[in-house]
Amino acid sequence: MADKQAKLELGGKTFEYSVLEGSTGPDVIDIRKLYAQTGAFTFDPGFTSTASCESALTYIDGDEGVLLHRGYPIGQLAEHSSFMEVSYLLLNGELPSKDELDDFSYTITRHTMLHEQLMTFYRGFRRDAHPMAIMCGVVGALSAFYHDSTDISDPTHRTISSHRLIAKMPTIAAMAYKYSVGQPFVYPDNSLSYTGNFLRMTFGVPAEPYVVNPVVERALDRIFILHADHEQNASTSTVRLAGSSGANPFACIAAGIACLWGPAHGGANEAALNMLREIGTPDKIPHYIERAKDKNDPFRLMGFGHRVYKNYDPRATVMQQTVREVFDSLKVTDPLFETALRLEEIALSDPYFIEKKLFPNVDFYSGIILSAIGFPTTMFTALFALARTVGWVAQWNEMISDPGQKIGRPRQLYTGPTERDYIPLTQR
Ligand code: CMC
Repeated sequence: MADKQAKLELGGKTFEYSVLEGSTGPDVIDIRKLYAQTGAFTFDPGFTSTASCESALTYIDGDEGVLLHRGYPIGQLAEHSSFMEVSYLLLNGELPSKDELDDFSYTITRHTMLHEQLMTFYRGFRRDAHPMAIMCGVVGALSAFYHDSTDISDPTHRTISSHRLIAKMPTIAAMAYKYSVGQPFVYPDNSLSYTGNFLRMTFGVPAEPYVVNPVVERALDRIFILHADHEQNASTSTVRLAGSSGANPFACIAAGIACLWGPAHGGANEAALNMLREIGTPDKIPHYIERAKDKNDPFRLMGFGHRVYKNYDPRATVMQQTVREVFDSLKVTDPLFETALRLEEIALSDPYFIEKKLFPNVDFYSGIILSAIGFPTTMFTALFALARTVGWVAQWNEMISDPGQKIGRPRQLYTGPTERDYIPLTQR
């Protein structure tokens, strides 16, 4: 596999390291023996040049704006597939046959209910709690309710807990919403699609029948596809690191949700819409562009820029099309969409954004659709968590099934005091 070598000179000695090739993408220098051989570590805060694992799930070429799941381009999946099918693909490696997809959808549907005792858990939260706070708590608590699927050395347990997480996440997110608006929880309806059921649990009330709008259902399903997985991002790496110690999958996904919440990651969809609301009309855009460029101002254009994409995020392209389709079908509009389009146009012609290769990312347009569907901004990141659960679970399974898997344990460049003697309090 590795006939290329990398040479390192250190302390007058030369060391050779194998260069490993993936199926596509950059080569990686295998430095696993570096410390044992040289006594030195590598230094890479933020992992900008570090491959933390081997994975066959998702491939991103950030320069070309390419995103593939198991080889399939995200644009094709968003156009032709469904969230259930993409979930099967991520978990199993291949697109399902019709029977396989039916079986998988049936299995997921049969896990949508929550243990009734969890209802009382919700009631411990304040009504104004952020849905992500509730999601972290409730998902973490699942391991206290589903002991029968937490033996990670048992592949059947791993499969059952994966299905449970994917199936219960819409119920958990919808209940977080219902709790915040003071409406009764709506139980799942297994005759509906994964996404249709989520819409009903969120916006339906027991007092009247809820009719799923197929345009909204398709748009939301597509949004779920766009968020399903994204390689070794911060929350996925968190899930892998938590899981590397042998922690149960419910605890690991709760850790991923906590990481996703930050505004530099999944919290950006909420922050992007709040920013567009603050900007308001296109005439205010130049002022905010200047602020984003000012090094002394912490303001950034939310929904812009990406660690990996140095080109248009392919998910943002689909998201922008989806806004148009939803608006056309529902015969609605939102002046913030015009503001967003204009902001994108102005930013993409500004030398600051051109030189730094800052383009709209998936979060730039998603808030506009989610808001048109009726979700409050605080639910945006919860929807991201719902959809990303399949990616987290697939990555966690991939890691646990890897015979070479080890606990994740980075090292550091220590810059604190060297050894010194303790001084008694009376002498300080
Ligand atoms: N607005 C203005 N300037 C920016 C922006 C922005 N949105 N993003 C990056 N820059 C500048 C930054 O100031 C820095 O300038 P300089 O080199 O002069 O110091 C340069 O571009 C590189 O930025 P960085 O922060 O070093 O890059 P990073 O790879 O560490 O950060 C990022 C990537 C996504 C955190 C960042 O672009 C950002 O904060 N964007 C806004 C938040 C956002 O939209 N996040 C969603 C990411 S996509 C969804 C997800 O994966 O969760």
